[in-house]
Amino acid sequence: MDAIALLTADHNRVRGLFARFDAAKDADDTAAMVALGQEIFTELTVHTAIEEETFYPWASGLSDEIKETIDEGIQEHHIVKVLMQEIGQLDAEAPEWLAKLTVLIENVQHHAEEEEDELFPSIRSATSTADREAMGDRLEQDKAAKGAPVLADKIDLTTAELKDLASAQQIPGRSTMDHDQLAATVAPPA
Ligand SMILES: [Fe+2]
Ligand SMILES: [Fe+2]
Repeated sequence: MDAIALLTADHNRVRGLFARFDAAKDADDTAAMVALGQEIFTELTVHTAIEEETFYPWASGLSDEIKETIDEGIQEHHIVKVLMQEIGQLDAEAPEWLAKLTVLIENVQHHAEEEEDELFPSIRSATSTADREAMGDRLEQDKAAKGAPVLADKIDLTTAELKDLASAQQIPGRSTMDHDQLAATVAPPA
C-alpha cells in the first residue's frame, strides 16, 4: 500500500475519533470522553512513531525543502507528546484536562492538514509509486511490531461491513471511499 495513502488513512481514523470526542463533550459524557481520549492517544503514539522512525528519515533525504517541513513537523509532534504526557497525569475532572485535550486536537488537526496539503504532495512529486509502496510495506511492518491493527486485519471484511464501521467511527470522506480505502482507514471491529 502507498505510504501516503496509509498515513492519510491514519489521519482520517483519528479525525473520526475527534468528531466522536466532540460529540461526547457536547453530551457532557465524561466516561466516553476518557475512553475516546485513550483511543486518540494510542493512535497518535503509533502514528507519530512510525512517521519519526521510518517515514520522515526516508522523506528527509528527498530535498532540503522537504527536510525543513519535516523538521517543523517533528517539533509539532513534540508539542503533542508533551500535552499527552501532561494530560495523562491529570484527572479527567480537572479543569485543565479538557483544555489541554482541546488544544492537542487543534494542534493535530493543523499538523495533519499541513502534511496532506504541503508535505505529502511534495513527497509524491519526488518519488515513484514503487518507492511509496515499498515504504508503505515498511510502515505496515512497523505498525504490526507495535501491536497496532494493519490492513490485513480488515481487508477480508465486506464493503457493507466496512461502511458500517466507517459510519460508527465517523470517518470523514467515507461516502466516496472504495472497499480498499475503507479497509485501510477503519479500526477493526472490537
Ligand atoms: Fe506527522
Ligand atoms: Fe501524520
